Amino acid sequence: MAPAHLDVVCRPTNGKTPRKHWHESGWSRSLLTFRVLMYSLAIISLVLYTFCDSAFFPICYLPRFWLAGHCNGLAELLSPGVNSTTCPQWTALHPTKYRGLSEDLDVAYNSEDFKQRAIQALGDAVRVPTESYDDNGPVGEDSRWDTFAELHRVLEASFPRIYKSLNVTKVNTYGLIFHWQGSTSAKPYILTAHQDVVPVEEQTIEEWKHDPYSGYYDGTWIWGRGTCDDKGDLIRQLLAIDSLLKQGFSPARTLILSYGFDEESKGIEGAGHLARYLEETYGRDSFALLLDEGDLYTDTGGIVFATPSTSEKGYLDVKITVSTLGGHSSVPPSHTSIGLLSRFIAAVEDNPHQASLSRRGTPFATTQCLAAYDPAYPEDLRKLARKAVADDAALKVLQERLLASDPLYKAVLGTTQAVDLIEGGVKVNALPERANAVVNHRIAEHSSVAELQQHMIDLLTPLATKYDLALVAFGSNVTRGGAGEVVLSDFLGTALEPSPVTPTGYGPWALLQGSIKAAFESSPTRNSSKVVVVPSLSIGNTDTQFYWNLTKHIFRFSPSFDTDRFNGEHTVNEGKRCSVTLFSLLMQFPKLAFRADSMNEGVRFYTKFILNVDESDLP
Ligand SMILES: *[C@@H]1O[C@H](CO)[C@@H](O)[C@H](O)[C@H]1NC(C)=O
Ligand SMILES: *[C@@H]1O[C@H](CO)[C@@H](O)[C@H](O)[C@H]1NC(C)=O
Ligand SMILES: *[C@@H]1O[C@H](CO)[C@@H](O)[C@H](O)[C@H]1NC(C)=O
Ligand SMILES: *[C@@H]1O[C@H](CO)[C@@H](O)[C@H](O)[C@H]1NC(C)=O
Ligand SMILES: *[C@@H]1O[C@H](CO)[C@@H](O)[C@H](O)[C@H]1NC(C)=O
Ligand SMILES: [Zn+2]
Repeated sequence: MAPAHLDVVCRPTNGKTPRKHWHESGWSRSLLTFRVLMYSLAIISLVLYTFCDSAFFPICYLPRFWLAGHCNGLAELLSPGVNSTTCPQWTALHPTKYRGLSEDLDVAYNSEDFKQRAIQALGDAVRVPTESYDDNGPVGEDSRWDTFAELHRVLEASFPRIYKSLNVTKVNTYGLIFHWQGSTSAKPYILTAHQDVVPVEEQTIEEWKHDPYSGYYDGTWIWGRGTCDDKGDLIRQLLAIDSLLKQGFSPARTLILSYGFDEESKGIEGAGHLARYLEETYGRDSFALLLDEGDLYTDTGGIVFATPSTSEKGYLDVKITVSTLGGHSSVPPSHTSIGLLSRFIAAVEDNPHQASLSRRGTPFATTQCLAAYDPAYPEDLRKLARKAVADDAALKVLQERLLASDPLYKAVLGTTQAVDLIEGGVKVNALPERANAVVNHRIAEHSSVAELQQHMIDLLTPLATKYDLALVAFGSNVTRGGAGEVVLSDFLGTALEPSPVTPTGYGPWALLQGSIKAAFESSPTRNSSKVVVVPSLSIGNTDTQFYWNLTKHIFRFSPSFDTDRFNGEHTVNEGKRCSVTLFSLLMQFPKLAFRADSMNEGVRFYTKFILNVDESDLP
């Protein structure tokens, strides 16, 4: 479709046709000269526009600027209803067997009664301050976990029907598993969320118009810590299940709810134990799919994108410890352990990891989707993205252009590093025997913990040798030395590989897409507008890191708009529209309040998703 458009609108004619009306007047001669000039300029521009992809040649800008304005269809901007080979879209999937049930519930969810009930249930959950601290001790030893018992009482009071009808198991005291037995032996599936919230810091208290644990409803917003992350998801899942129970629905496929309670710290006490319990009880790879919290709907100005994450970056904190012989500062060596450590740090910072846009990676898939469907995507990038599907040179240029467009792309396309901690020296007149620093890494989807470790070994070995230090890296002796040693280690033992990438070609992904579209397109507030569903890479980590053994179909998606999350003066992202990226950092902003209307929108999504999975033939 694009080439036809190009023919009609943008290709300059070559001057063959209108010959017959020439008059040899001075006026027409100058007109002819003018036309020849214009045609030549147009042809040169088109040639440059087509073959000139580098941002570094200023001559490329002019034709781009000139032609891009006229040729908006040039590189296949698709309307959201159209399928594409580079970003496959399935149509909305409405329950068929349970069509009537689904429609009845759509009506119920729009009632004022339901809205009030949803506000009440979320408010009640938010009023229990289930804060999770980085330094929490194990459950049973640290009494700060006790608030979770109160949350359990609140949930039971809000959802007596669920507690009566489903089997509830507590794992490691505060982990919650709800088991809803299906009538068939089809593989069960899991919805997850977390019960804990980020502690409220004293100095942020004045940002809160209403107490962070008030759960106050002001007519638009429900206020409080956890409304957005992640009690909103948890309560909306329970509301969907409660409504289905009330209608007498009983599932064909077993549904499991798994709710951890320390996602905001390490996740080990909650999801860590829950995952082990699920693997022991149901077996490895025994679930059809898993849906956790994650990325949202974003309205990029006309087109709405939903961006479930299909992978997460990995993680490694490397501690660099330099030990030298001590001594007195009055007779110092040329380099103390602090001086040596600074050289290692400089080497690390001077050799950042190379970003890479690979056709097999998730960021490439996201880029293709934005290029195909986002009207605000820069035209030259749209064209480049299309070309990059098969053309290696174009892929390289696209990578450079994306990296130049937004610093976020460095994080999306590569392993990042940040020297975040440093320690050393005890006294101004004593040589420091030991100094250390910790480098935080988020590992690219295409890399691994081992590759990162090797990068550091390769980088630091020559320096260790130069200063006659023994290098011990991650448990092995790399080089010997007489002047001391430098040790590389996993700081808190929290190494995490990049997650497996969820397949997006078929089955569960198509079903998730279809359910998102069905919920969105049937929203009373969305006027039947369409949504494009795009796989994305998450640059942070969720509880899903513990669930890899249970299924390869792991999705991270919260059925809310970015604008449903209130963040003080402005809603998150307000005023910062960046069409080139949708890899949002939403999860990292403090959120103060959640839009009440988003409650029923989300419940509608979970309901349709549950019904669709239930009647599907997913293996
Ligand atoms: C869209 O395209 C994909 C792959 O090209 C295909 O698998 C899928 O069935 C198509 N969707 C529709 C609704 O035709
Ligand atoms: C609860 O567990 C019992 C015994 O394992 C089982 O028979 C029953 O179907 C379960 N009920 C639900 C709703 O899952
Ligand atoms: C490393 O070298 C030290 C001292 O030479 C030795 O004690 C230790 O066993 C070695 N470790 C490994 C893993 O080889
Ligand atoms: C839907 O239509 C109504 C009435 O025309 C309008 O006020 C509202 O803004 C529209 N909503 C969206 C999401 O476009
Ligand atoms: C997944 O399985 C591997 C291999 O059996 C095991 O070592 C690992 O602990 C399991 N992961 C979790 C999170 O349970
Ligand atoms: Zn969360």
